[in-house]
Amino acid sequence: MPLVEVRVPALDRGFLFGDSVYEVIRVYRGRPFLFEEHLARLRRSLEAIRLPYTDLEGLRQRVLQVIGEYQFREAIIYIQITRGADYTRHHVFPQRIEPLEFFYVEEFHDDLEPMRQQGVRVITHPDLRWKRCDIKSTNLLPNVLAAQAAREAGAYEALLYLPDGTLLEGSRTSCFGVLAGKLLTAPTTPSILPGITRALVLRLAREQGIAVEERVLRLADLPQVAELFLTGTTSEILPIVQVDGQIIGEGKPGPITRRLQEAYRRLVQSL
Ligand code: PDD
Repeated sequence: MPLVEVRVPALDRGFLFGDSVYEVIRVYRGRPFLFEEHLARLRRSLEAIRLPYTDLEGLRQRVLQVIGEYQFREAIIYIQITRGADYTRHHVFPQRIEPLEFFYVEEFHDDLEPMRQQGVRVITHPDLRWKRCDIKSTNLLPNVLAAQAAREAGAYEALLYLPDGTLLEGSRTSCFGVLAGKLLTAPTTPSILPGITRALVLRLAREQGIAVEERVLRLADLPQVAELFLTGTTSEILPIVQVDGQIIGEGKPGPITRRLQEAYRRLVQSL
């Protein structure tokens, strides 16, 4: 059915409590990219919030069926599973409740290519999130506020930092930097989302013989950082050329970022 006609019950716990988890997957030329990895992360998110939805194989088939039937080529799949709707509002899990499965496939017009070539500006923003950012839950208010602050500052993204200056990730992207010749990204602790693109970029970097370490960057490192970039399902690999108005490296996408972008492009084309 048309997406704008979809209705969710007002007592759905995803709506009332943010009691739900989600995934966003890119489709290239009709084929979902890293589909199994995204479904595995969805399974982990479901288990982490004890949401007893188990039909991931059925979901996979239904998504593929929609892509095939409507002949999607360049598209985005959005999947959300909520704990479902009860007859009244209670914080505790209801005893008998059917999880709600919601997904849509939408054509994707990729207008980020100029930014992948030229780089983007970002701001830094305090991380106001909870202690389980590894769960891909739909409780995104801190992310929304940080993304909006970036937009209002004329920046593409907000890099979230802790009170001690630790840089974790963007509001909707993972973050990498090159410091002293080494590619760094925050380790997968409960403080970040384990990005699917992040994992792929780490693999590509190792295959390219680039020295990699899963270690956090700090705000104080930024003046010494040679390159900085964002990764994400729709962003892919997006160079950062300015943080809070300060130029990063040479002020243009750096050589390691370029190599990884090329490796990413080759991989997508080979599939
Ligand atoms: N965002 N970090 C956060 C906080 C994110 O929300 C996302 C994804 C990422 C990148 O993860 P991946 O490489 O698996 O897309 C990192 C999705 C796309 C979103 O909320 O729309």
